[in-house]
Amino acid sequence: HSEDDKSEDYLFKIVLIGDSAVGKSNLLARFARDEFYPNSKSTIGVEFQTQKIDINGKEIKAQIWDTAGQERFRAVTSAYYRGAVGALLVYDISRQQTFQSIGRWLNELHTHSDMNVVTILVGNKSDLKDIREVPTSEGKALAEAQGLFFMETSALDSSNVAAAFETVVKEIY
Ligand code: GTP
Ligand code: MG
Repeated sequence: HSEDDKSEDYLFKIVLIGDSAVGKSNLLARFARDEFYPNSKSTIGVEFQTQKIDINGKEIKAQIWDTAGQERFRAVTSAYYRGAVGALLVYDISRQQTFQSIGRWLNELHTHSDMNVVTILVGNKSDLKDIREVPTSEGKALAEAQGLFFMETSALDSSNVAAAFETVVKEIY
């Protein structure tokens, strides 16, 4: 085995889901390229990026899929979920509405993918403490009730972004 071969051993498909503008694309941009877009546009269709992740000295490749939160911009749902082994279910801590949608996203995930898909509930925009609408305790409670991992992140200030993706990959691996 050469060094290059190692990375081919594992390729995990991970999907990002959640309402429009919760920050899915920016979580991916921060994680994969360490970039942030203050004025990013809604995603249209599907995009994905492959990111190498080091877990206990082993190189894992995560293929992270990102689609639109808005129904009218989404591609075929079943294709998006097909083969996914991990999911980040994202809401915006400054918009209660996005947290209320989580139940619907979970239903969709369970309809289109294996029940065993490793899922983390992600409360993004933790930097917006002054306008927070969803208490951390509520996120935690929902995650516990649904058997999900939980983390609050900020794509803006980078907090917990890598940790959220790595939590999923570690559990799959
Ligand atoms: P769709 O593609 O429409 O589903 O939206 P999305 O979930 O991909 O959201 P996107 O990443 O495009 O971000 C929406 C807006 O929120 C943009 O203006 C981002 O700059 C902003 N945003 C994303 N993450 C954060 C964050 O952690 N903190 C703050 N303050 N703003 C963020
Ligand atoms: Mg997007």
